[in-house]
Amino acid sequence: MAAKPRYGIDAPTVIRNFFIAGAVFLAIALFFPRITIAHVEFVLFPGFLWPAGWFFLIGGLMLTYSLAGKFRHRDRILAKVSWTGKESVLDVGTGRGLLLIGAAKLLTTGHATGIDIWSAEDLSGNSAEALRANIEAERVADKITVKSEDARQMSFPDGSFDVVVSNVCLHNIYEQPGRAKACAEIVRVLKPGGVAVISDYKLMWEYAREFTGSGMAVEMCPLDWTGTFPPLRILVARKLT
Ligand SMILES: C[S@@+](CC[C@H](N)C(=O)[O-])C[C@H]1O[C@@H](n2cnc3c(N)ncnc32)[C@H](O)[C@@H]1O
Repeated sequence: MAAKPRYGIDAPTVIRNFFIAGAVFLAIALFFPRITIAHVEFVLFPGFLWPAGWFFLIGGLMLTYSLAGKFRHRDRILAKVSWTGKESVLDVGTGRGLLLIGAAKLLTTGHATGIDIWSAEDLSGNSAEALRANIEAERVADKITVKSEDARQMSFPDGSFDVVVSNVCLHNIYEQPGRAKACAEIVRVLKPGGVAVISDYKLMWEYAREFTGSGMAVEMCPLDWTGTFPPLRILVARKLT
């Protein structure tokens, strides 16, 4: 029997740190409700329960997105494309294949390619091997190619893809010129008439400016407060010529 696909926990270190911070505040509140430093008494209970609760809440919401919300979010992203099933698709920063495998399932004669640099900080258990295991488990191997490539420097010829998708990848490029390069690469590898659907929790207006500056028609969708945390936005950019 094929193993169950596992799509990983996004930003696992950040989530872990939120839970540790919550536990530290809770422990201080419970075990040191009053402390005296240099003859000054500080009352820490119940005040420290507030930051404890806040850190647990944020960590819990992020975990909920990874365990449940991201599947609904994947469907929202993919629903922005009018699929024929014949498309050539690129998923930029595919990780463990959330969008790549989702798109492949919508294809008949089309093909989907996923690129990534497999950063363990950005997604738990992130590797080409973990992605291949998911592809096998989801039985879409015949429709998928996986490549280890950086979004800023893709090997594909100009106009290779009908559809480019990307979810919570581009903000991981910390320098603005690098993000601009990644957006330019997305435009370059799209066919005229092709569509890019990009989702992230920040810098979305920066990406929109890059795409608009490259002559794309950009539509920005509202933040999704239901099931994504941090709340994610989707933009749809169409390459006109
Ligand atoms: C938070 S994960 C999201 C993975 C997947 N898109 C999803 O929604 O489950 C971000 C992914 O972007 C990848 N990534 C970060 N910087 C990248 C870059 N410069 N080029 C390609 N991929 C990158 C990371 O390795 C990671 O797999």
